[in-house]
Amino acid sequence: MGATIRPAELIQRKRDGGELSADEIGELVLAYARDEVPDYQMAAFCMAVYFQGLTPGETHALTDAMVRSGETVDLSPLGRKVVDKHSTGGVGDKTSIALAPVVAACGVPFAKMSGRGLGHTGGTLDKLEAIPGFNVELDMDAFLRQVAEIGMAIIGQTAELVPADKRLYALRDVTATVDIIPLIASSIMSKKIAGGADAIVLDVKVGDGAFMKTLESARELAEAMRELGVRAGREVVCELTDMNQPLGRAVGNALEIREAVDTLRGEGPQDLLELVLGASGHLLALSDLRVDQAEGRRRAEEALASGAALELYERWVRAQGGDPAVEVLPAAPVVRAVPAPGDGFVQGIAATAIGEVALHLGAGRVRKDDEIDHAVGIVCLAKRGDLVETGSSLAEVHARSDEAAERALPEVTEAYRLGPEQPERRPIVLEVIA
Ligand code: URA
Repeated sequence: MGATIRPAELIQRKRDGGELSADEIGELVLAYARDEVPDYQMAAFCMAVYFQGLTPGETHALTDAMVRSGETVDLSPLGRKVVDKHSTGGVGDKTSIALAPVVAACGVPFAKMSGRGLGHTGGTLDKLEAIPGFNVELDMDAFLRQVAEIGMAIIGQTAELVPADKRLYALRDVTATVDIIPLIASSIMSKKIAGGADAIVLDVKVGDGAFMKTLESARELAEAMRELGVRAGREVVCELTDMNQPLGRAVGNALEIREAVDTLRGEGPQDLLELVLGASGHLLALSDLRVDQAEGRRRAEEALASGAALELYERWVRAQGGDPAVEVLPAAPVVRAVPAPGDGFVQGIAATAIGEVALHLGAGRVRKDDEIDHAVGIVCLAKRGDLVETGSSLAEVHARSDEAAERALPEVTEAYRLGPEQPERRPIVLEVIA
């Protein structure tokens, strides 16, 4: 091994509650990325971190080493302040797809590298690939050229970007070490920092369908990510947003593209629209336009109302080889209504359960190499607070076969909780950390 560290000694020190130096953490991560430290030692290290945590200094050293494990993107040739947006992962979260054209239509360059679905949460790349012809694999020159020409691009992360995270994430996924705040923060922020944007809005999901189940833990994650961004010279605003029910109505790749386009047409669901406008306002305020959040939001509203954002969406999709017409999106052959089992107000919709039904219909991957069925998913017609009657439609199941739809129906019914009282309104944005 090229490194001078002794992994077993570092694991032991972390296990016993000690602190590692920045050099020790850096060497450990870089040696792991070079395949000089085996998975079993790194897994033991992650488990020690699970129980003992990392100090802010250790988290920064880990993030910095992850960034150094691969290439970084230089967006400075664009000569502008470039913005990016990231979500920690939710159910029905198509926000970036609707938001990016709004921001770009307001004249702010938006450059995002995105990931694929993970477990019950969907991924932006999988959703974009529901669009016939859409290419997520642009090289760096094409990525920059497109941002310069039309104002935005969303592409897949290249293999050269943060390879340490790629290995580490796959390891954490199978060793019960995903849900650890410093490891999530460094995983996300290393990719955002390497992605090159100057200012980032982070949407930290809170609730049943998210990694962070409580407002306190989401706040802790948000603050950890913000600190890592600021240390790397980036401006970061975090929004803590509700994930106790799916976002919008659609869950499933092509269904979510349709809903993003509906939103750009001014016909989208209220919670998604609110998230798009709020985050656009923050991104415009962080940009070089010199406006505040309220003015940024006003301009975003204008870009939607004038049709400029929809037009930009169409240019973007064409630029990446896709057909922007919603009529060409894949549609499932079987669509079945889910009848309400009684009268009452929807008290809640278990987001994780809906995400899992969509996953098992084929909208996500159970195994790493599974093919995705872009057409299938769930549309939650009734949302929290809505009044339903026995037999009226709670949701639609979009399935590949009658059998798949049959299996999904009772699972969707079970995800809905009905009750006699109308629940209190809950805003989609719970808190902003700026
Ligand atoms: N998303 C990531 O990219 N990394 C994590 O660790 C969790 C969510």
